[in-house]
Amino acid sequence: MELTQKDRKPPRHIAIIMDGNGRWAKKRGLPRNAGHAAGAEAFRRIANYARTIGVEYLTVYAFSTENWRRSEEEISGIMRLLGAYLREAIRDMAKNHVRFKFFGDLSRLSPELQKLCLDAQSQSAQYDGVQVNFCLNYGGRDELVMAAKAFAADVVNGKHAPEDLTEDLLSGYLYSADVPDPELIIRPSGELRTSNFLLWQSAYSEFVFMDVLWPDFSEKDLDKAIAEFHGRNRRFGGV
Ligand code: FPP
Repeated sequence: MELTQKDRKPPRHIAIIMDGNGRWAKKRGLPRNAGHAAGAEAFRRIANYARTIGVEYLTVYAFSTENWRRSEEEISGIMRLLGAYLREAIRDMAKNHVRFKFFGDLSRLSPELQKLCLDAQSQSAQYDGVQVNFCLNYGGRDELVMAAKAFAADVVNGKHAPEDLTEDLLSGYLYSADVPDPELIIRPSGELRTSNFLLWQSAYSEFVFMDVLWPDFSEKDLDKAIAEFHGRNRRFGGV
């Protein structure tokens, strides 16, 4: 019997660079924040679908360490959308069973948003549905600097010696400490870069770049990316 896409398990961990919101809005003559609002809707759909098909971890790039270069209006629009989403997620937690984690330096966010992140994380810790890792004020290089500082502090306080450092030990200092590396990273919108996303964790990830803009990204697009993933020959440096 031939195996169809539906019989195949999706990757355990999928990561997505939610790109193309601005162009989606521009094409429609709308302000950029209308694109982000449509992007937040696309995220709701895809997170829900990922949960129903059995994805265990979904990591999304919502705001990078470089995104502070945008206009104040755009930044506050994105922050408002995130706040609204987290309030709704906290309210619907018992129904959706999504577990929330946050990757990034949250200290630069407003106290109100920081509290929503902490509440979403602590109140969802017991749920066993998909784990959503929200990357907020996240940069892959910034994460490695943070981890190096934390390890250095543990050397100074006597917990470790410099020669203790291994790949596994360093992984434990990252935001993703307890999360397996993503098998699949998807970037919609036609851009062919990683843009400082999951630099350490993506060493052996399969990348799927798609032309669709994030607000238009559908369940079918996720199926397509997963099908492409299943067609790849993953050798991890072997033959
Ligand atoms: C990249 O598109 C997108 C962002 C920098 C923001 C992502 C934010 C959201 C999807 C909204 C908040 C999220 C949730 C889940 C509530 P871009 O603006 O760089 O697009 P462009 O390259 O076309 O300009």
